[in-house]
Amino acid sequence: MEISRINHGWVMRSHAHVAEVEFTAAIANIAANGGGSVRWFVCEPNADEQRFATQHGLVADVPLLHMQCELPLAEQHRVPLGFVTRPFRPGIDDDEWLAVNARAFASHPEQGEWTHAVLNERLAESWFDAAGFLLHEIDGRIAGYCFTKVHRTNPPVGEIYVIGVDPAHHGKGLGRALTVAGFAHLSASGLRHGMLYVAGDNLAAIGLYESLGMRVAHRDEVFVGTVSANRP
Ligand SMILES: CC(C)(COP(=O)(O)OP(=O)(O)OC[C@H]1O[C@@H](n2cnc3c(N)ncnc32)[C@H](O)[C@@H]1OP(=O)(O)O)[C@@H](O)C(=O)NCCC(=O)NCCS
Repeated sequence: MEISRINHGWVMRSHAHVAEVEFTAAIANIAANGGGSVRWFVCEPNADEQRFATQHGLVADVPLLHMQCELPLAEQHRVPLGFVTRPFRPGIDDDEWLAVNARAFASHPEQGEWTHAVLNERLAESWFDAAGFLLHEIDGRIAGYCFTKVHRTNPPVGEIYVIGVDPAHHGKGLGRALTVAGFAHLSASGLRHGMLYVAGDNLAAIGLYESLGMRVAHRDEVFVGTVSANRP
């Protein structure tokens, strides 16, 4: 079981079925480290895993879909009229990007509450590549972005890690253009496999990705709740 801190809470991820002892140890670890909100991502949970979740007060939330595609996409990158594409500039675009990200993900605090500290952590990751963090802007203002990530697996896989459009510019074709731009960048870097994760209730995004040829490879069930901190 992987455990990581996300903003104010915790994420637990299990890629294979977990035994009760492993689940309980993960919860105990979180309790010993201050507790807080928890999201557990588990692929096709069995009856035992559903029981552990319930016993610890976690409840089922919207599932997370893992979508995949082969690269290059059939569609060519075309920026809507008036918009230009450029890479993110660390240290210069941070404030404005955080504001656009907060507006785009206003209803998804896990992403929308990214702070300077979280952004700086991502920019310092070994996989970070500013050329793969694309912005679409108009009149010098950021309207949307597509942040890609390369997984150096065998074969390597290119992920659209975060993508968002400022609500003021929704429905103008930017989401489509940014998705195509992100995968075109990954494809030009030699990658043949693309992927992303999307919440199962994000119908606008799922429809967009399906129309570009992406397919759901699998879904993770998500359990959410709060773990109390151990008393000192
Ligand atoms: C998903 C998102 C990036 C789409 O951006 P956008 O610029 O509004 O999308 P586009 O204008 O390019 O439209 C793309 C397609 O989605 C469809 N679409 C857009 N909004 C829709 C909605 N609310 N419901 C259903 N379909 C919708 C459009 O009809 C369009 O289809 P078409 O290309 O066949 O005409 C944007 O809604 C967003 O930033 N959402 C919040 C952040 C988010 O959810 N990111 C994705 C996480 S995986």
